[in-house]
Amino acid sequence: MDAIRIERLSKTFNGGTSSAGRKALDEIDLRIGTGEMVALIGASGSGKSTLLRHIAGFVASDPQPSQIEILGRPIQQNGRIVREVRRIRRDIGFVFQQFNLVHRLTVETNVLIGALARLPLWRRLTGCFPRSERELSAAALAEVGIGDKAGERAANLSGGQQQRAALARALVQRARLILADEPIASLDPESSRRVMDMLRMLNRNHGLTVVVSLHQVDIAMQYCPRTVALRDGRVVYDGPSAALTPALLQQLYGSAARELLEPEASHAITRRFGAHPEAA
Ligand SMILES: Nc1ncnc2c1ncn2[C@@H]1O[C@H](COP(=O)(O)OP(=O)(O)OP(=O)(O)O)[C@@H](O)[C@H]1O
Ligand SMILES: [Mg+2]
Repeated sequence: MDAIRIERLSKTFNGGTSSAGRKALDEIDLRIGTGEMVALIGASGSGKSTLLRHIAGFVASDPQPSQIEILGRPIQQNGRIVREVRRIRRDIGFVFQQFNLVHRLTVETNVLIGALARLPLWRRLTGCFPRSERELSAAALAEVGIGDKAGERAANLSGGQQQRAALARALVQRARLILADEPIASLDPESSRRVMDMLRMLNRNHGLTVVVSLHQVDIAMQYCPRTVALRDGRVVYDGPSAALTPALLQQLYGSAARELLEPEASHAITRRFGAHPEAA
């Protein structure tokens, strides 16, 4: 079964902005199998966040014939989000660039929020979590490498630690699909690597499907076997990340390719493909 199945998804934002009337997503067709780890790349404004928000059912598409299914169940159709959206969302863990945690709560409570949906109402209201869930939370925090932070207020964690707590929350939620929108955009290289390592661990050890939007092509190549590249709301490439040479990126994005090939990135690719990447 596919984890995500998208047919003919388009989105036009209306409003007073310069992008009024322009299609942020234009006839997207996409299938992502269960257990895949897929990178979503594209220059700023290409539609990565908009696509992820449609997949999660946070935003409704244009009212034309279209469909998004999560693990075989429609989450939106023809511009309407289904009524059971919350139930479907239980299978989805979210990680964003920031604002992932409730800062004033402890790390443990933030992670336990993942368990809320399956608890009875009185526990939800009282915040009294059963021991089994607390154990699950402790195990998840240990698994992402911050087991010692359970009692800290979330605000006191570094950016990378907060992202890893968000991943622990997805584990406790028993999510089957992770949608991560630029989870490493504001992190230093070392923290970025740790967060990507943890995403890979969730993918490999827990069988979670991962879709992660990234600005850096080198990270996509390192961690994701498959890359979907967007430009102006269209899929311009969908295939092995290893084939994303600087020459291909130049072809896909023209001068905007530079944005995806930061100095570090282009070095990594040059190392990998030699001095003449187009020959690789
Ligand atoms: N709520 C909105 N209202 C109007 N236009 C929007 C809205 N959200 C996104 N857009 C427009 O849709 C297009 C795609 O935006 P989106 O945020 O999805 O791009 P992105 O690839 O995530 O970019 P970035 O790399 O900067 O995060 C842009 O032209 C943007 O201006
Ligand atoms: Mg974005």
